[in-house]
Amino acid sequence: MEKIIVQGGQTLRGTLRVQGSKNAALPILAACVLVNGVCEIRNCPDLSDVRAAVRILRHLGCAVERGEDSLRVDARTVFRAAIPHALMREMRSSIVFLGSVLSRTGRAALCTPGGCEIGARPIDLHLSSLRALGARIDETNGALCCTARGGLRGTTIRLRFPSVGATENILLAAAAANGTTTLYGAAREPEIGDLIRFLNACGARIRDLGAGTLKIEGVPCLHGCTHRVIPDRIAAVTYMAAAAVTGGDVTLTDIVPAHLACMTNVFEQAGCRIEEADDRLHLRAPERLRAVRDIRTAPYPGFPTDAQAAIMAALATADGVSTIEETIFENRFHHVCALRRMGADITVEGCTALLRGVERLHGAAVSAVDLRAGAAMVVAGLGAQGETVIDQIQHIDRGYEKIEACLQALGARIERSADSGSTKPEQQFPLRLLPLRYG
Ligand code: UD1
Repeated sequence: MEKIIVQGGQTLRGTLRVQGSKNAALPILAACVLVNGVCEIRNCPDLSDVRAAVRILRHLGCAVERGEDSLRVDARTVFRAAIPHALMREMRSSIVFLGSVLSRTGRAALCTPGGCEIGARPIDLHLSSLRALGARIDETNGALCCTARGGLRGTTIRLRFPSVGATENILLAAAAANGTTTLYGAAREPEIGDLIRFLNACGARIRDLGAGTLKIEGVPCLHGCTHRVIPDRIAAVTYMAAAAVTGGDVTLTDIVPAHLACMTNVFEQAGCRIEEADDRLHLRAPERLRAVRDIRTAPYPGFPTDAQAAIMAALATADGVSTIEETIFENRFHHVCALRRMGADITVEGCTALLRGVERLHGAAVSAVDLRAGAAMVVAGLGAQGETVIDQIQHIDRGYEKIEACLQALGARIERSADSGSTKPEQQFPLRLLPLRYG
């Protein structure tokens, strides 16, 4: 099993280009199924979740080729409407294929992706919205069998919560439906904006009327296009946290500063100086961060739940008491345990974490229990004294492209190891062979 090994205490300096957005690329790849043509998706990160989406596309009948930083998807040959369980469970966001497969083929058979470490993650909003668009959905033991004989029909949908995935599924299903759909209470994350730009470039007619209202005029068919995926704001904030926790001085390029506004504000409150230009940001951190009170995760433009773990890792050593409230997912404090093991003083009450900043964390053996918790372990390890060994790094690889190479470029001492752990021989246990017993 591969591990990431971090020797903490190096100040990060330099310039890093931020990868394309995972959460924008995945629904755009699902949207390719709608297109009777060829799409070229540029700035598409090479991640295990993206590779899982490519396997689904190929299974459905698409021809997919990987270029240097792009994917070319030819969906003219789609011939399947069923996605096997093994492919669905590779990544949770596979549910976003439901809207596009149903719209393209008039049916879809797949299973619910199920809950995960961070919460139950129901899909009731996805299903009720697709039903409102005219889909018939039978749900038995997690298997979804959906049909839309005669096609999907435009309608009015009001989401009780601005779910990102449900908004994406509605966009995909309604883009080629008969008639117009008005969606109230849509998610407003930048990744939704990118999906709309992609669909419109393919001939869809989607207008963002502001305040979470989208008007989607269904069109008979979509054509191919070339699209560049937006930069990954969560990868950007992870590298900002890494720079901040080491007292670093780092420039991030190929970002959209406006997408980071809420997070930039937190780093400024923590004492970092931040300068922004068109597509770049320069962060200079103080020797020690200041605590930040009242961070509260919320749908965009609020503070993103996906940035919560990395910020917590950075604030674990800030001067004073910080508080972070998680409002999006019910179970997203798994990283607290590992941070405590590294010496952090964090207590959790309900959905609020109280961080009493300690002078320094120390290295430890920890696990990347989920994607963003794993990134938080890397951030914590970079600021800690000594060696941190992180296992279960397949979770990190779902969302970060070559994380160790990116951080090495900023001067971090971090490496990936295929062996069982520590790079320090004195920390390895001597191997004692026991006599074999037969019989
Ligand atoms: C997406 C992101 C994920 C991010 C999350 C919130 C992708 C691939 N993933 O996940 O990284 O953390 O947005 O910004 O883009 N909910 C329901 N019923 C539903 C759907 C959602 O109750 O039908 C609830 C969820 O349980 C959760 C909340 O709504 O508590 C937010 O979920 P949602 O916005 O749908 O997140 P995802 O699309 O799964």
